[in-house]
Amino acid sequence: MSSQIPTLRWGIIATGLISSWFVQDLSLERADAKAHHIIQAIGSSSVEKGRAFAAKHIPGKSPTIYGSYDEVYSDRAVDIVYVGTPHAFHKQNCLDAIKQGKHVLCEKAFTLTAAEAREVLDAARKSGVFVMEALWTRFFPLVRTLRARVHDEKVIGDVRRVFCDFAMDMNLASLGPDSRLKNPALGAGTLLDIGIYSLTWGLLALDPRIGSQAETPKIVATQSLEDGIDVATSAILVYPNGSQGILTSHAGVKTPPAFCRIEGTQGTIVVEGWATSAPTAFVVQPPNGEAERYEFARVGRGFYWEADAVAVDIAAGKCENETMPWTETLRVMEMLDEIRRQGGARFPPGQDWESGVN
Ligand SMILES: NC(=O)c1ccc[n+]([C@@H]2O[C@H](COP(=O)([O-])OP(=O)(O)OC[C@H]3O[C@@H](n4cnc5c(N)ncnc54)[C@H](OP(=O)(O)O)[C@@H]3O)[C@@H](O)[C@H]2O)c1
Repeated sequence: MSSQIPTLRWGIIATGLISSWFVQDLSLERADAKAHHIIQAIGSSSVEKGRAFAAKHIPGKSPTIYGSYDEVYSDRAVDIVYVGTPHAFHKQNCLDAIKQGKHVLCEKAFTLTAAEAREVLDAARKSGVFVMEALWTRFFPLVRTLRARVHDEKVIGDVRRVFCDFAMDMNLASLGPDSRLKNPALGAGTLLDIGIYSLTWGLLALDPRIGSQAETPKIVATQSLEDGIDVATSAILVYPNGSQGILTSHAGVKTPPAFCRIEGTQGTIVVEGWATSAPTAFVVQPPNGEAERYEFARVGRGFYWEADAVAVDIAAGKCENETMPWTETLRVMEMLDEIRRQGGARFPPGQDWESGVN
């Protein structure tokens, strides 16, 4: 491992599915790694759970295992906390980590509401730590290449429409009431879990800019609610120039591999992958010419791209990342709020809008 690249020591909060994918990916040997990642500590609801997690997902490594999250926040050997808890806990986990002076990478959706996101980012600003929402898809090389083709080279002319879907059969009937996919108090519902990716593709394909530079579209949205959570969401983004994004999520069916279609005045692009969060290829189809296919191979799942970017930023003394800046997280959270305002999904009182919409 070259000594020219930064080293980042991670404290992992929670031992669920996403944390397992994240630590596996960070432990891969990669010739093109931009940083050296160390899983320094793991915090879980129990030490036994933490030990079992480490043994299964990063065998041969020996992180410090804690039976609480607080011990990770106060471990001086930890540089950055990775938050892999259900949505409803993100705000408090982030605030607690920031209070101990830790940098934070927090899973999507960043928080339940835009108001919560503002609270976390204000705390980060005051403490001078790095904070980022772990919207890993934005860091895929495929996304960078696609955005260059669409917006800089205009290979399909002007973008007029984008369709994107993320649907998974979550088999909700089989899950207990405490599942994070079912319990509204944990931030359940398709919108924050998977709909956020459809929204992300729409935003990235319809506008070359992000964050405070981006254009704000009008939103028209509807949701199907069951037991207090959205099992389906459809949102339409309408831009001032008339272009539209038709963006959907569903908990009872499965999106086919071709999950996104970008339509322009001079052609169409179809994006493919095993999930809307993890694209593997796209095809550019001009109206009368040969289709051109772009394939993107990767090892593991691809969480190391966001982790590398975080490490490089922190080594450079930055507090936010230019691919996923704070203003973009806030913009997306505000759109998620608006979609729920129109669609009807509410989180429990006290966790939702301070205006008392719920
Ligand atoms: N980027 C992606 O592709 C991706 C994929 C899946 C999920 N996610 C995101 O990752 C986050 C977690 O999702 P997940 O699928 O990993 O969830 P999960 O498998 O249910 O794990 C969540 C973990 O959080 C901890 N936790 C603390 N309080 C909890 C409570 N009251 N109920 C349940 N768990 C609690 C538990 O760990 P301990 O017992 O060890 O404390 C649990 O194992 C969400 O924000 C989700 O949107 C991202």
